[in-house]
Amino acid sequence: MVDDVFDEVGLKVENLHASYGAVEVLRGLDFEVPAKNVSVILGANGAGKTTTLRAICNMCNTSGTVTLGDRDISRTGTAEIVRQGMVHVPQGRGTFPELSTMDNLMVGAYTRKDNEIKDDVDRWFEIFPVLGERSSQMAGSLSGGEQQMLAVARALMARPRLLLLDEPSLGLAPLIIEDLFDRFITLNKETGLTMLIVEQNANLALDMADYAYVIESGEIALHGTSDQLKNDPAVQEAYLGA
Ligand SMILES: Nc1ncnc2c1ncn2[C@@H]1O[C@H](COP(=O)(O)OP(=O)(O)OP(=O)(O)O)[C@@H](O)[C@H]1O
Ligand SMILES: [Mg+2]
Repeated sequence: MVDDVFDEVGLKVENLHASYGAVEVLRGLDFEVPAKNVSVILGANGAGKTTTLRAICNMCNTSGTVTLGDRDISRTGTAEIVRQGMVHVPQGRGTFPELSTMDNLMVGAYTRKDNEIKDDVDRWFEIFPVLGERSSQMAGSLSGGEQQMLAVARALMARPRLLLLDEPSLGLAPLIIEDLFDRFITLNKETGLTMLIVEQNANLALDMADYAYVIESGEIALHGTSDQLKNDPAVQEAYLGA
């Protein structure tokens, strides 16, 4: 059992718009991630999932209100948002291939000055044992699934209050995705960490999440508990291959 090391907070997004140049990609999203919950955003290629995470972190041109815990961060810069505890694992992972697993984790802890860094490494090796076995291996030579675990463990080293994951299943085989998502569930159950996960793999994502939102063309088309969406004929037809 991993101790509760996080100071989890919720996220509230109201009327979020985002555009690239003259092209509006998000057209007024409203959604919430309660503290300690796992929410997923589902949607097809190009629906605006990555843009949603970028907009929350103020990495693109946005309007609307984003509240982290009790703080309005709509106009807060990206670096300060990270300092306030919202950490983003981008699509495609972004680990340093030339550094070892352990050095990647240390990069994740670079802002910390406390003396629990080593304890945290042990905690994340408990949830992702393969990283412990490969702690001196270069990140670039890890398998896709191992690299995804490393990207998440590195983000955890910053002691986030809320973790954003952009398509963690990308490029992984179904069995590996299932194993990875089981570990995310363990992480959430054992630590209470609040997570917002963007996914195209609706079947497995709905098994992992408490609540789900479906984005189509930059708008929330449907939302509900995972069970509600799994049983919704429109979701089954469009996203669950029914
Ligand atoms: N930097 C950019 N400049 C211009 N348009 C962009 C930019 N980034 C994304 N877009 C456009 O915004 C729309 C939404 O893209 P986004 O990356 O958010 O989709 P997504 O749902 O994450 O898709 P995927 O599942 O393929 O990752 C797309 O039409 C895309 O072409
Ligand atoms: Mg994307």
